[in-house]
Amino acid sequence: MSFAYLYFALVGLKLEGKTKTFIIILYYSQSKFTVILCGTDMGEIRMNKMKITVIGAGTMGAGIAQRASQSGFAVSLVDVKDEFLKKGFEGIEKTLKKGIELGKVTEEQSKSIIENIKGTTELKEGAADTNLVIEAIFEDMEVKKKLFTELDELCDDSVIFASNTSSLSITELAKATKREDKFGGLHFFYPAAINRLVEVIAGEKTSSDTVDKLMDISQALGKTPILAKDAPGFAVNRFFVPWLNEACRMLEDNTANIPTIDKGAKDAFGIGMGPFELMNATGIPIAYHSQESLHKGLGEFYKPSERLKVQFELNETWDMTGEINDSALGTVKRRFYGVVFGVACQLAQEKVASKEDTDRGATIGLRWAQGPFALMNEVGIQEAYDMVNNIAEISNGTFKVPDLLKEQAESKKPWDLKTVRVTKENKTAIITMDRPEALNALNSKVLSDLRDIIKQIQKDEEITTVIITGSGKAFVAGADIKEMMEKSPIEAREFTYLGQAVLKELEDLNKPVIAAVNGVALGGGCELALACDIILASEKARLGFPEVGLGIHPGFGGTQRLPRLVGRAKAKELIFTADILDAKEAERIGLVNRVVAPDKLLEEARGIANKISRQAPIAIRLAKSAINKGCEMDLDTGLAYEVESVSMAFSTKDSKEGMSAFTKRRKPEFEGK
Ligand code: CAA
Repeated sequence: MSFAYLYFALVGLKLEGKTKTFIIILYYSQSKFTVILCGTDMGEIRMNKMKITVIGAGTMGAGIAQRASQSGFAVSLVDVKDEFLKKGFEGIEKTLKKGIELGKVTEEQSKSIIENIKGTTELKEGAADTNLVIEAIFEDMEVKKKLFTELDELCDDSVIFASNTSSLSITELAKATKREDKFGGLHFFYPAAINRLVEVIAGEKTSSDTVDKLMDISQALGKTPILAKDAPGFAVNRFFVPWLNEACRMLEDNTANIPTIDKGAKDAFGIGMGPFELMNATGIPIAYHSQESLHKGLGEFYKPSERLKVQFELNETWDMTGEINDSALGTVKRRFYGVVFGVACQLAQEKVASKEDTDRGATIGLRWAQGPFALMNEVGIQEAYDMVNNIAEISNGTFKVPDLLKEQAESKKPWDLKTVRVTKENKTAIITMDRPEALNALNSKVLSDLRDIIKQIQKDEEITTVIITGSGKAFVAGADIKEMMEKSPIEAREFTYLGQAVLKELEDLNKPVIAAVNGVALGGGCELALACDIILASEKARLGFPEVGLGIHPGFGGTQRLPRLVGRAKAKELIFTADILDAKEAERIGLVNRVVAPDKLLEEARGIANKISRQAPIAIRLAKSAINKGCEMDLDTGLAYEVESVSMAFSTKDSKEGMSAFTKRRKPEFEGK
């Protein structure tokens, strides 16, 4: 048989409004011409090739456009007038200039970030071929609705719409379109290009697929997304705005003067600016309108303080002069804590956001040293209850202590704030290292949460495989350096034992574990991956051992497992130089099994898990143990071990089933017996 290629081309065709990519091959064989048209993987548009349209070139819109461009998305920035666009681009240039000064971006990168944003005053042009529209215009329900109705006509049905509103209902805005299921909130925080927090808001009709996509896109934007229900103030403004209001109430009832209140807030929340200084910087009208909007949605307790209203009407900034009164600081702190704790418990009770996400909102979005729930644990749960009760007592019946807090205080236990999550999908457990604010760094709490989950999975007979991945942009950035710094040598030794023990339990788990390395896996993070059976790495993954640069060396098994996997010489080179490898290089030296596109990582991991789940579970368990143990033995001992192990496998009911199914040409049905 002889054949010859005549033509080969990669073409993009527009089908049902979507651009699909095909390979066309025309060849001649056995006296016949054949044309082959095959779809490529690129039909599913890769995240970093997506186009994002941002509407509104104000401070927030311009910041979002910059972030999107910086993350590799194609970006259109739309506003009604050229002068607004010009101002938006000036803002972006200013931020990037600061970035260059700080060494965060190069001149060249800055230039290409700006060039990649196409400014236009034509909505149709900006919305053409887009995948996601983010609306960031001023807060007016009717104007926003009109815009979304127009966009609904212009955009393909598959396009997701998101609003950056901080105060309007997502459910209500979605009604202006025929795609309520593809409509959600993406609430960015100032400065949008830099602040890592984004609230993903699900309206009543937002589909779970849309929520997942908005979470994924937020991560691709380098953000830490938190999930919030469509309720007034969502998660963060629900407690942050009343925090500002409480400052004004304290001024009104003469608890203290402005400098004392600001000092109390700074001490209590570990922040650089108190509420009055902050309101002067960001604008008193925003504080007033946000409070008024909570008041309308949530009732009397949220009413703007008279003092705030007066200041808003005067259109003047707060007078920051005066002496700090140290004796009033304690009362000020208790009042702030009381309001923040009470509101945080209320919103968690209403399931607006989880306790963990509420805390994340405070630490990442507001840069508080700790979130409300961690702070309650620090001051003591009974003490926290008393502070909230005090607010309820002075609220004239407008605020009640949430039952969630009452029950917790009765239990006399601190809040259990999880740093590792686990979900079950059919027979697979997906473990997510969930401390994105610190790139999932391993501290004692993370290790203990991970240990609890490993124990739980070990006992769960329904689970046959495990996938472990990281939340946000990192897999795990190593052991927690900040926690380690505080440790004495004896404590550091205990911590190292703990890390080693937990990773050994993971390695010895009675089911296969697949590491889906989605971002950096450094030091302890790489050691976590090494304790897994199979390592898949996203193209964005970076792996290495920076410990010697910190004056220590790998301690969670890195000096032992790495040479066993990649050989002594490579292991020494990696550990001694602290070089960080990209995913391809890690694959080349055998550190990872294979490299996968970022948006396909979990899909690939699930695919492997499903394949494993179809095999005989006891055989898999015995094989895992034989490989792991065998690697520590000489060949003869290993072979002897294998004989015993495979004999055990022969004695299972599953072995009878597997072989009988083979001879009868049917699929085996394994029972794990
Ligand atoms: N421990 C504690 N906090 C960490 C951390 C770690 N290992 N890695 C990152 N973080 C925190 C940062 O301090 C930062 O917190 P703030 O926002 O409060 O400042 C947050 O995570 C985000 O990090 P960056 O701003 O640094 O993010 P980046 O994208 O600019 O840089 C990075 C990412 C290159 C991974 C950088 O964070 C980094 O170098 N991290 C440290 C990596 C490391 O040295 N790991 C080894 C630890 S030692 C070890 O693991 C010993 C062992 O064998 C057990």
